[in-house]
Amino acid sequence: MPSTLTETKADMTGTDTHSTDLLHTAAKQWAYRYIVDLESLSAEQIRTLLRVADDFRDASTRSGAKSSLLRGRVVANLFFEDSTRTRSSFELAAQRLSADVINLTGKGSSVSKGETIVDTARNIEAMGVDAIVVRHGASGSARLIAESVRCAVLNAGDGSHEHPTQGLLDTHTLARALDRLDYDLAGLTVGIVGDNLNSRVARSNIHALTKLGAKVICIGPPTLVPSGFRALGVELSHDLDAVLPRLDAINMLRIQFERMSEAPFPSVREYTHFFGLSEERAAKMKPGAIVMHPGPINRGVELAAAVADGDRSVILKQVTSGLAVRMAALYLCVSAITK
Ligand code: CP
Repeated sequence: MPSTLTETKADMTGTDTHSTDLLHTAAKQWAYRYIVDLESLSAEQIRTLLRVADDFRDASTRSGAKSSLLRGRVVANLFFEDSTRTRSSFELAAQRLSADVINLTGKGSSVSKGETIVDTARNIEAMGVDAIVVRHGASGSARLIAESVRCAVLNAGDGSHEHPTQGLLDTHTLARALDRLDYDLAGLTVGIVGDNLNSRVARSNIHALTKLGAKVICIGPPTLVPSGFRALGVELSHDLDAVLPRLDAINMLRIQFERMSEAPFPSVREYTHFFGLSEERAAKMKPGAIVMHPGPINRGVELAAAVADGDRSVILKQVTSGLAVRMAALYLCVSAITK
């Protein structure tokens, strides 16, 4: 691996020659080869990831701009659940750091013949892979893999547990949209609406946002926002209209029917009536308040199409932030295994 300490802006943009002091310092100090959750990261570690992502914004968004930081390194994407955004942005992030990438899915791999995910991960690592990115339907699978290998491991979503890079990219987008470039979110109130119970996105958002000082309100029917969530340091509400005017940002979750054994409300129509973000509801938000969604969107269920595509929406900015955040996570964790 090229020294994490000598990369220059010229290597990334071709236009500048000053050394990237922040990358240098962050990589030197970062000691963690895996990120499986945000619950176990401190506020300062989360801020480091977000600041390093800021440094990668240019290289992440311009197709011609590439960093050489992970040249000669190999990143394996192991996706045992479907994905559009996370899988392609991890792949692009690795490519923009000049790493080689291999992709495996459950269907085309020997997992379909009964091989365990730990054996799969160990075999992949034995080929000289430096980082494993894993998405799996079982909560805890990313940590199991991380503790079974020596390479870097990034959780790309494990069951209903956590989706740490989604929590980071949501926080990155929110902070930039609301002009909190120091990543101090004190005084901001963020609503997370819908299927909090089954949502790994909600959990990672809650940990990141509360650690950085924001107030979080989990909103939805009691079946999807149970009282136990208070233990995460959040406020609960079952009345979207009552809390809407207090919010600086609203994150609308998809109802994850695939993770439910029984319907949590009588009908989708009723859910949309009480908890969908319609144009009429969005108009009652504070001036400047933003609308977020991790994707994929069920248009017309949790979010009206006009709101998803409207002025308040930062949904595509979230996707763009994802690249920079994943470059930061890959860079720091792979740097940690070279020490
Ligand atoms: N937000 C998210 O995880 O999307 P994908 O399932 O498309 O990766």
